[in-house]
Amino acid sequence: MSGIRIVGTGSAVPETILTNEDLSRTLDTSDEWIVRRTGIRRRHIASDTEGVHTLAIEAAEKAIAAAQAKDPGFSREKIAAVFAATMTASYVCPSTACILQEELGLPEDIAAFDISAACTGFLYALQTAGHFFAAGKKGYILLVGAECMSRLMDYTDRSCCVLFGDGAGAAVVAPDERAESCFYEIAGTKGSRKELSCLRQPQGDGFLHMDGQAVYRFASLSLRNAVEKLLDMAGLTLDDIDQVVCHQANARIIDSVKKRYPGHEDKFFMHMEEYANTSAASVALVLDDMYGKGLLRPGMRIIAAAFGAGLSWNAVLMTI
Ligand code: ACO
Repeated sequence: MSGIRIVGTGSAVPETILTNEDLSRTLDTSDEWIVRRTGIRRRHIASDTEGVHTLAIEAAEKAIAAAQAKDPGFSREKIAAVFAATMTASYVCPSTACILQEELGLPEDIAAFDISAACTGFLYALQTAGHFFAAGKKGYILLVGAECMSRLMDYTDRSCCVLFGDGAGAAVVAPDERAESCFYEIAGTKGSRKELSCLRQPQGDGFLHMDGQAVYRFASLSLRNAVEKLLDMAGLTLDDIDQVVCHQANARIIDSVKKRYPGHEDKFFMHMEEYANTSAASVALVLDDMYGKGLLRPGMRIIAAAFGAGLSWNAVLMTI
């Protein structure tokens, strides 16, 4: 498939921070346990006046501003589609993508819809954009991953609530005409409600339930397989990759893949310390943070990979 250029990124997180120490005041847990098992120190939590739609709008405005600054050919009138990945949308309907169209003043003759794929959602949005471009769609596509995971948390369940946070990330993307551009993708599904599920009331309690050890095994294996498979598809090795952008669920999961590639440790950026697992927002937030820190630059070749509820996995190898 022809490539995708990341034109601009943005992100937004709530101001309120919930630290491990805060959690340990009401739960039988500790900062030491959480950091050692997950790498997480804090998470941002939405207030009653915030939601997926407000975070998504803020992140998308920043991505649009970044695209305007970086690409003289870009304007918001040229946005031809909006895909929003979330499983905690503020509104059941309209979709978050429709709200973005209205709030951002985007053209009306555009495709706008939400994607529900938990932590893999943003990469599904990216792949969908690639297929729209491959089918001839012109212009730019706005991708957003936004999540208020705190709304699904049972704050008496220490095995789950310490892991998640709220936030949003966004990217404006365009077809990539550069000769060196590449785009390889994989996606997979193993439908199962045993390891991770959240059933709405009245049938369920509305909380996310997780078999942590089973998810850990699945996540480590799917991340490892994703990196290996994409390198194989592209006929490359990790020497040819500038950064591996991983879903930020747990530092130990990323470490388990990292240690298979000695000498490449600096290619596995992590920031779950600050944001925890923000599900569909995670990869988008990481991308924006890495651009901001100068770790990602145009022309670099990256792998981006995610895994999560579904169970699902999704990964791309691309020139950015
Ligand atoms: N604080 C203190 N103790 C805890 C906590 C906590 N927050 N949570 C669990 N424990 C206890 C358990 O009760 C258990 O105690 P016991 O031995 O007395 O029974 C002990 O710690 C060990 O529990 P384990 O579950 O074996 O701990 P583990 O090392 O597996 O770590 C964790 C748990 C962090 C949840 C890990 O399994 C994990 O990260 N799993 C993956 C989760 C994930 O990445 N999810 C992402 C997908 S989510 C999505 O897609 C929406």
